[in-house]
Amino acid sequence: MPNKPSSAVGPIGMFDSGFGGLTVARAVIDLLPAEDVVYIGDTGRYPYGNKPAEDVREYARELAWSLVRDFNAKLVVIACNTAASVALHELSKELPVPVLGVVEPGARALVRATRNRKVGVIGTVGTISSGAYVRAINNTHADVTLTSAACPGFVEFVERDQTSGDEVTVLAERLLAPVRDAGVDALLLGCTHYPYLSRVIGEVMGSKVVLVSSGDETAFAVRDALIESGMAATSGVGSHRFLSSGDIAWFAQLGRRLLGPELDHAEQWSINSHS
Ligand code: DGL
Repeated sequence: MPNKPSSAVGPIGMFDSGFGGLTVARAVIDLLPAEDVVYIGDTGRYPYGNKPAEDVREYARELAWSLVRDFNAKLVVIACNTAASVALHELSKELPVPVLGVVEPGARALVRATRNRKVGVIGTVGTISSGAYVRAINNTHADVTLTSAACPGFVEFVERDQTSGDEVTVLAERLLAPVRDAGVDALLLGCTHYPYLSRVIGEVMGSKVVLVSSGDETAFAVRDALIESGMAATSGVGSHRFLSSGDIAWFAQLGRRLLGPELDHAEQWSINSHS
């Protein structure tokens, strides 16, 4: 649990490679309506999932420091499993504010959801190959068997706003086969983009499998960290800012459809100009 001094003034800073972290932002805004939120989607450099860990770590560092220095963030949420898998540890040590990821909250929610103690995690190649979920689930000490599968291509469908149809279903049938065949009864969507594909994933997995996403659990962890460090906003209505390192017109258009009315416009965030 983060435990660093910070100021109660300032927004919750969040980032992802693109639109996926908006699933976490939605949960944070709903649970903590008095908090200001600044969200950066690094669509200029997405996808992260197939990039070397060192590159993703550098991007994460630049984004997190920008949230603190340029936006005065009082707490940073790495709303991206790929980035959290490779950068949470380091950023927690180097940033002057508390830093939360999505991996541990997701793992906790997953082990709570299973009945037959066979659980699955799907994520990007980067997340699955980092072993972060194996470690996080071991750390829960739950007696479960984990099957993991990387799902390259899912993120690209979401970023293109193609969340249903034959193409995505055919890909899902193929990529989800290992977790389906393992008989899991709870499947963690271990990439913040995947909740937008939950209809297709749910149809392929079947109605007996519970789909778990990390958004709500992460929002609870943010609330607890703010209360614990005396930084929670207690009254008023929070403001919400959304930035993108790519095409901001597209970010505002698709982002508003995915997140909701709080995303009424997007601002530009320029890569490599925040050090
Ligand atoms: N939403 C991300 C994650 O949770 C990003 C995926 C990507 O950019 O490949 O891993």
